[in-house]
Amino acid sequence: MIENAHIDLVDHAPSTSTVLKEVLAGLSKTQKTLPPKLLYDKRGSEIFEQICLLKEYYPTRAETEILRTYSSDISQMIGPEVLMIEPGSGAGDKIRYLIPHLENPKGYVPIEISKEILLRMTDELHDEFPDLKVIPVCADFSGEIELPLTLDSDRAKKVIFFPGSTIGNFSPAEATQFLKRMGKVVGRGGGLLIGADLKKRPDIFKLAYDDPQGVTADFNLNLLTRLNRETGAGFDCRNFEHEAIYNEELGRVEMHLVSKVGQLVKVNETIFRFNEGETIHTESSYKYSVSEFTEMCAKARWTIKKHWKDENCLFGVYYFELE
Ligand SMILES: C[S@@+](CC[C@H](N)C(=O)[O-])C[C@H]1O[C@@H](n2cnc3c(N)ncnc32)[C@H](O)[C@@H]1O
Repeated sequence: MIENAHIDLVDHAPSTSTVLKEVLAGLSKTQKTLPPKLLYDKRGSEIFEQICLLKEYYPTRAETEILRTYSSDISQMIGPEVLMIEPGSGAGDKIRYLIPHLENPKGYVPIEISKEILLRMTDELHDEFPDLKVIPVCADFSGEIELPLTLDSDRAKKVIFFPGSTIGNFSPAEATQFLKRMGKVVGRGGGLLIGADLKKRPDIFKLAYDDPQGVTADFNLNLLTRLNRETGAGFDCRNFEHEAIYNEELGRVEMHLVSKVGQLVKVNETIFRFNEGETIHTESSYKYSVSEFTEMCAKARWTIKKHWKDENCLFGVYYFELE
């Protein structure tokens, strides 16, 4: 853990008992599930950084290309003296493309569930942009988002920055609810700069979510190691394997952990039975055409202002405002 005196962390990290409750609820369903946010402990966040470097994992490269190419245009759309709020900021690589182009930004609030990576990136940003006010919030963004009281930003225009196609981890109904909540956070006149993966050939998805080096498999399986460590669960990781499929009907990539054998696994006081081949659904990544995405955002009352694609039309970045 990085301890740094100049970091003013707002700490609402979910407790182990909250995590355990969600795990027990998910594993009790007919289709066993675990929430994707649990993929990101310290180790999970590190593996995700490795995934972002894989040649098969196009979303990071494509979105970075857009942010790099159109940073001035994007910053002009956003306007001066804004407070940037980034749910799921991770390593904070993408905000770094925007900061130098923003005119007199009022501050940056990264909101991240994985405390170690949040502290690390805050520390790095302090060094790179000493004049930028950064207030990190360790919290689960699927709950209510409270902006830090220390922020004197009531009059500043607020812009949600939500890259990485993290919006795709929600179902369209959940995403609409989330987008409505973000609207309440920024208020009238606020902005939303958001990245979403585009629909494309399924074989491209397959490679991106099941790379030959097995990095994504490690990422998925690390979830079980995490639960063993934090909740005393008894998963034998050798008895599970990673699977990624494209569900064309629902327009989403699904990551699963497949039980290789029939087995019983104890989590806290509850024993769960797994049949051979039964899966735990750990993550969905919904893919959207430009019109599907802008229509979904319109349901949450966001008005599209502009969108950008990378050269290969793999990924979309969109700027909306709440009117
Ligand atoms: C797909 S990664 C994207 C990271 C980064 N924004 C990017 O574009 O590269 C999702 C990030 O959101 C964080 N995250 C996922 N679910 C979260 C939740 N419910 N609350 C807060 N952070 C969450 C993860 O820890 C991870 O850093």
